[in-house]
Amino acid sequence: MAATQELIDGLNEDLAAEYQAVIMYRTYASLVTGPYRPDLKAFFEGEIPDELSHAALLADKVVALGGIPTVRVPEVPVPQDNRGMLESALQAEVETIERYTRRIEQAEAAGEISIKIQLEDLIVDESNHRDDIRRMLKDWR
Ligand SMILES: [Fe+2]
Ligand SMILES: [Fe+2]
Repeated sequence: MAATQELIDGLNEDLAAEYQAVIMYRTYASLVTGPYRPDLKAFFEGEIPDELSHAALLADKVVALGGIPTVRVPEVPVPQDNRGMLESALQAEVETIERYTRRIEQAEAAGEISIKIQLEDLIVDESNHRDDIRRMLKDWR
């Protein structure tokens, strides 16, 4: 029971971060400027359906485990320029991967193997996001 409650609390922390990611990408898509705006806008918008589907999965699992999905969303940082927005997004993706790595251990401890496998799929998505942003920042001028 303690392991299940710990997992519920952890998944709610992840859920809050996914909602935060949705707001972050939606906000950055509107804010980007300059000659690369069309590409950056499309890139940020393209992340939103992934993050929203992650949020849906997490909310469903919190309920399935007997919890209540969080409705509290942490504040989104609003950098002043395009590069700052990409760096902020990169940091969010890296932190998310670290959280899911911890969450997989908690899911195992709670005997929730299917949640563990689904969290692994989320790590695949977030790793792709992270790698894309890293490549965009690599040759940034
Ligand atoms: Fe996500
Ligand atoms: Fe992501």
